[in-house]
Amino acid sequence: MLRRPVLVVNFGSQYVQLIARRVRELGVYSEIVHWDTPAEEIAKKDPFGVILSGGPASVYEASAPLPDPKIYDLGVPILGICYGLQVVTHQLGGRVERSSLQEFGRAKLKVLKKDRIFEGVPDEFEVWMSHADKVVELPPGFETLASSENSPHAVVASEDRRIYGFQFHPEVVHTSYGRELLANFLFRVCSAEKNWRMGDFLAEKMEEVKRTVGDAGVIAALSGGVDSTVASVLVHRAIGDRLHCFFVDHGLLRLGEREEVERNLRSLGLPLTVVDASELFLSRLRGVEDPEEKRRIVGNTFVEVLEREASRVGNARFLLQGTLYPDVVESAGVKGSAKIKTHHNVGGLPEKMKLRLLEPFRELFKDEVREIGRLLGIPEEILERHPFPGPGLAIRILGEVNREDLDLLRRADRIFIEELRREGLYPKVWQAFAVLLPIRSVGVMGDVRTYEKVVALRAVDSTDGMTADWSKLPHDFLDRVARRIVNEVRGVGRVVYDISSKPPSTIEWE
Ligand code: XMP
Repeated sequence: MLRRPVLVVNFGSQYVQLIARRVRELGVYSEIVHWDTPAEEIAKKDPFGVILSGGPASVYEASAPLPDPKIYDLGVPILGICYGLQVVTHQLGGRVERSSLQEFGRAKLKVLKKDRIFEGVPDEFEVWMSHADKVVELPPGFETLASSENSPHAVVASEDRRIYGFQFHPEVVHTSYGRELLANFLFRVCSAEKNWRMGDFLAEKMEEVKRTVGDAGVIAALSGGVDSTVASVLVHRAIGDRLHCFFVDHGLLRLGEREEVERNLRSLGLPLTVVDASELFLSRLRGVEDPEEKRRIVGNTFVEVLEREASRVGNARFLLQGTLYPDVVESAGVKGSAKIKTHHNVGGLPEKMKLRLLEPFRELFKDEVREIGRLLGIPEEILERHPFPGPGLAIRILGEVNREDLDLLRRADRIFIEELRREGLYPKVWQAFAVLLPIRSVGVMGDVRTYEKVVALRAVDSTDGMTADWSKLPHDFLDRVARRIVNEVRGVGRVVYDISSKPPSTIEWE
């Protein structure tokens, strides 16, 4: 079904997807579009409103990304956020300058003039700022509705043209009334309808899957993770046992993972084939140290194994993939930004087997997939699982992979995860795991000098894995985990905790 969206124009802010999600959380469908989308294309989507995102550029630079100026003539309400506000100011005849004071973090916003945008919010509240440039002169027809100490024009508007601008970020949790401000823009300025409910989406999607697939068969490669599990349950409800699910054990899984995933998937009624290909994967990885080479070997072998299994399925014409909206947005990119994440592509298989892709979650964010999972009755324990990379422990053993190290890493990782669950911390961190380092370190145990392996613990807070902060886990908790690992896992003599954030580090070590 076509829904009228609110369009979020992407100028490269790290918060673009967050803005789109906030709009959806308020019940209005949103889509992200590239900053150079022509005004005619924007008009064709018949949006309730347009939100111009933040971004790293400065409007007065020659290379600054600026939208098609005809968007201001469409009569569609516009909200500029941070860089978006500066874009509006610059394009409509005001002035933006580099400020001598950068403004990062919390600031107090003072409302100067009552307006529909402030309905239900107090006259003073905290907002989250993050900018170097500021508006020094408003465009004709605009007025200032609120200010902060360093930003005299923190909220500006041309009420008759229904164009608003915020210097701060209403989408982040640190802005106290951010949700209310966005809701006021959506419902009081844009008169948007609530057209985004997960129950409706689910019903429509099941119909669409039935229509698209007809009487063909669908192949699904499951990992036990949230996206592939929820996608498979949805498709299974739609087309029954014409869905064929495969779970490939590549020998790089965590302790007991194969049994756990198998139990989970069978309890959901999925028609499942478990393929043990660990010998094949491990033999091909022998002697390989380079991370990208390991990824390539695991990826190619996976496709080979799946192809062999899937070729036995009669009338298979589709490959189910759990592609999410962020992957779609990222693959479109903002000028040369990241390509699609490899783990969402079972690389090469669709072409080789002439399969069409079935991607029921292309429009969804991860939280929305979880909500669909709840509507389908999938247990919370499955929906809250941390992400796990396709190449598995192969990229968590730095250097060459062998059975002995796999065994050691599995036991250390199990202790970390077990303790996180015991403390109720597991659902609070976004991803957590242990890494085996390719070094030895000196220690003493009893009176004996030891020279043993080092395990690094990694836990991060994130929303989508694109950026991440290291989790500030309590010291006594880390202490307990480290003691248990050294005491219980023979061969490990030292445990370290990774305090790097992404960027500049990545979440995984390889
Ligand atoms: P990085 O290390 O890139 O990780 O910060 C971001 C997220 O992606 C996962 N990851 C992978 N997933 N194949 C996958 O399926 C891979 O090769 C791969 N590398 C990283 C990582 O676990 C984290 O969730």
